[in-house]
This record gives sequence, C-alpha cells and structure tokens, in this order.
Amino acid sequence: MTDTLLRLNGVRVELDRGSTTIPLVREATLEVGRGEIVCLVGESGSGKSVTARTIMGLTQLDAAMRVSGTASFDGTDLFALPPVQMRRLRGRELAMVFQEPLSSLDPVFGVEFQLREALRRRERLSRTAERARLRECLAEVGIHDGDRVLRSHPHELSGGMCQRVMIAMALLARPRLLIADEPTTALDVTIQAQILELIDRLRTEEGMAVLLVTHDMGVAAELADRIVVMYSGRVVETAPPQEVLAHPAHPYTAGLLGSIPPMRGPRPQMLPTIGGSVPDPSRVPDGCAFHPRCPRAAAECSEQSPAFVPLTGGAVACWHPLVEESV
Ligand SMILES: Nc1ncnc2c1ncn2[C@@H]1O[C@H](COP(=O)(O)OP(=O)(O)O)[C@@H](O)[C@H]1O
Ligand SMILES: [Mg+2]
Repeated sequence: MTDTLLRLNGVRVELDRGSTTIPLVREATLEVGRGEIVCLVGESGSGKSVTARTIMGLTQLDAAMRVSGTASFDGTDLFALPPVQMRRLRGRELAMVFQEPLSSLDPVFGVEFQLREALRRRERLSRTAERARLRECLAEVGIHDGDRVLRSHPHELSGGMCQRVMIAMALLARPRLLIADEPTTALDVTIQAQILELIDRLRTEEGMAVLLVTHDMGVAAELADRIVVMYSGRVVETAPPQEVLAHPAHPYTAGLLGSIPPMRGPRPQMLPTIGGSVPDPSRVPDGCAFHPRCPRAAAECSEQSPAFVPLTGGAVACWHPLVEESV
C-alpha cells in the first residue's frame, strides 16, 4: 500500500532489569494509512500505551527500555532518527494525547502560554488573532469559558478540563498523525461524542491520520477504518470494523465483542466478559498467550506461538480462528 503513513513491523519493547528482561510489547505490527482512523483495542495491560509512547520516541528516553523492530513514518525510520529530529517531529507532524492529562501539561506554565507554543509550531499570527484562534479551538473541545481557562494554570482545572485542553493543544498543531491514548476517559458522554466527532472531522477535512487507543469496542466500531486488537503485548488481529463485528477471527476479539452492551433496550445487569485477566509481562504463558483463557485452546496452543496469517482485509494470529483463511 503506497499511501501508508505509519508502519510498525515486529516492534518489541523490553524492560531491562539487569538479570532479566521483561517484554512489555512482544510484537506490534500495524499500519495507519493517510487520513485513516485506526483503533488499537485490548484490555488494560495489553501494551497499547507502551506501543503509543514508543512511536512518539518517549519509551526510548528511559535508559532501561530496549526497543527493536521497525517503525516508519512517511518513509522515515523513526527508531533511527537522531533525538533532535525526533523532537522536531513530535508536536508538529506527530502529536499525542496522553491517558493521564495532568502528567503532560506543564504545571509551571499557564494554559494560554502552553497553547500559544503549540499554535506557533504551526503558524505565526498576531497576538489578537492567536487569542481568537485559541478560544475557537477551546470551543471545539466544548470549553465555552475560554478566557477563564486561558488564564488558568493546569492545577486550577478539573481532570476532564485538562484532558480537553490537552486535546486542543494536540490539534492546534494540525499534526499529520494524531496518537490519542484513551483521550476521552475522564469526560462525560456528551463531550466524549463531541471530541470524537471533532477528530473524525479533522481526519476528513485535513487528512489527519489517527491512531486511537481505546478499550471501548463500541467507539472503535463507529469510528475506525481498521481495528487492531492487541493482547499481552502482541497484535493478534487486524481487520476492517465491519469484518471484526460480523466475523471476529480471534477468540479474544470475539470475547471483547461479547462485552459490548446492546445498542437498544435495557442494559443487562451483568455483561458477559472473558474470564481471567491479561498476564503479567514477566509471566507470559508459552505458545499463544491467550490459551489459558481461550475456549478453543488445543494442545498446540500451549506449545507454539501462532504466526500471523492473512484474512479478508486483515490478519490473525491464532491456531484455531473462528474464520477460515482467505488464501
Ligand atoms: N515504565 C514501565 N515500567 C514497567 N512496566 C511498565 C511500564 N510501563 C508499562 N508497564 C507494564 O507494561 C504492560 C503494558 O502496559 P500498557 O502499555 O500501559 O498497557 P495498556 O495501555 O494496554 O493498558 C503492563 O503490564 C504495565 O504494567
Ligand atoms: Mg494504556
């Protein structure tokens, strides 16, 4: 595919603990096309945030982290880029909205200063025009008392407000790729819908590509051009949403779908969930990491790791997928 903007191939992230190394991400392989929204889904602890931070070159700032595999952004090898150039790319071409908003806004500077810095990476305007642009951008994320927020410091704002400021900041730079890590977790449903709509609009109007990390299959089903499912540090299925919803191939994906509440009617008291939890990265089971929780597991599943095989519009890593291979 020629219009691929981001391509990860066999990305692995290990934490060096001296006598042992702990794999936090074992195999992240995925693509994001220009102007495409790709949703990365999986339970908490699957390695989604570590993958996102590694694309941004942030994991690498920790001396105990070892990153291997390849990540190419518009033909540039991200893992080979000198730190100075990586910093230039960050916030301009690549922007990220973090899961914890407070940790990524600078507590020392006011909101206005931080937003102006972000805007100046993209364009130079008069001070009055800048202020108008900042207010407009805050309104887009549902902040209508923009003047008060601009005068504030991050600690004076609620968590949800900080999250919106951070989203505004990432979008001001009009990046070519936005990585949004659970960007709407602290927000109420109305604001959440408004922000997801805004992201979708920028994709359409500005051709912005998006890697959206979410544990919400409902959001993924609605927004994504492609869904990437991650389990225990490995991408186990990629497919267009209509395929994933109608015919999930990996039993794990099917399990995640089973936990989507019905669209209409009363919400059941208990939603079906997959028993057990994501293994600790220091104790990943042999073979397919999902086998201890998998209703379809057979002998080979506990012995050998399944390869990634192509399916209609995607791929799956499973010995006994729910869908037949297409080739
Ligand atoms: N800096 C770190 N040091 C040690 N372990 C980490 C670090 N960051 C993440 N992990 C571990 O890596 C695994 C994947 O984490 P993460 O990427 O945050 O998962 P997700 O975002 O899918 O919930 C988890 O087991 C987490 O505890
Ligand atoms: Mg996370």
